[in-house]
Amino acid sequence: MSLRILGTGSALPEKRVTNEDLTRLVDTSDEWIVTRTGIRERRVQTSESLTELGAKAALAALENAGAEKESVDLVLCTTVRGDAVTPGQACLIEKQLDLHCPAFDINAACAGFVFALHLCAAYLATGAFRRILVISAESMSSLCDWTDRSTCVLFGDGAAAALLEKGDSLVDIQLLCQPDGGELLYAGAPHGNSPFRLGEEKSPFLYMNGQEVYKFAVHASVDGLRALLEKNGVSPDQVDHYLLHQANYRILEAARTRLRQPREKFPLTLDGCGNTSSSSLPILLDSLNRSGKLKKGQLLAMSAFGAGLSAGTALLRWDKED
Ligand code: ACO
Repeated sequence: MSLRILGTGSALPEKRVTNEDLTRLVDTSDEWIVTRTGIRERRVQTSESLTELGAKAALAALENAGAEKESVDLVLCTTVRGDAVTPGQACLIEKQLDLHCPAFDINAACAGFVFALHLCAAYLATGAFRRILVISAESMSSLCDWTDRSTCVLFGDGAAAALLEKGDSLVDIQLLCQPDGGELLYAGAPHGNSPFRLGEEKSPFLYMNGQEVYKFAVHASVDGLRALLEKNGVSPDQVDHYLLHQANYRILEAARTRLRQPREKFPLTLDGCGNTSSSSLPILLDSLNRSGKLKKGQLLAMSAFGAGLSAGTALLRWDKED
């Protein structure tokens, strides 16, 4: 598995929206949101574009790696909704960074960062690219229906990046998809004004069957992590940090208790950021990296899940000096 992480970075919008703020928009309460999800506040875009946030996160990752931007030969962006339908978000960020290498997006919903690691490991192994800048940038506030209390309280905006090159850090990685026919978690795309198009247009707002997604999330996190650890002869106790998609504190707790691990091994950004889709995992990784809690040689288990339904699990040995 040919990959190592040279540096990480992240960028959040300025605007903080607390649970109390949301009570002025929809019929909800701080108590409901905190007990059901663990979220206290989230950051929401006002005037910043996703391109600006993504570029800021990318520059922070380059600086953290001590690398020149010109050394990057691929820009990959994970997003469910960029600033434009086309060109891709990766191209927009690349322009902002004044880079000129290939750039494209992948959309694996909230599991996007793990899917990107899988793709990068393959690219780096073949030598097709030598340094890949992966940016996860998500504008969930543009996808939510702000009159729907069952979804708008859950999400936040943000971007994070990781600079990758060939190495031996990635122990193993697994992806899975359980197609749900777009029934459990989706946001529709507009049909446009074609006079030939038949059929009903789905709402562009995010719809989620919370309870079904919850069951999938617990299964994907717990069974996915157990299977990956077992396959690699690693016991749950040997993992130093569990980095899970920051969707819901109860899902994190279900995974933590089933794996019989202490709280400090499951770091959180959920309380201050909400669910930032594919950005959540690299935002968490960056916050751990910058807090000095990651030590060279430590084992990191990652797990993310989302629309598709899709999920990805990865085991990495941190290979960066403090
Ligand atoms: N405030 C107050 N009440 C609310 C709110 C709210 N914001 N939202 C829903 N309710 C009400 C419902 O209307 C319902 O009321 P009723 O009993 O009178 O009908 C009641 O609260 C319970 O609703 P449930 O949907 O059963 O609540 P649940 O305990 O399942 O929690 C939640 C909902 C938090 C969405 C949970 O199902 C969950 O976390 N699911 C997983 C979501 C997830 O992980 N998504 C991540 C993947 S998707 C992605 O990352 C893009």
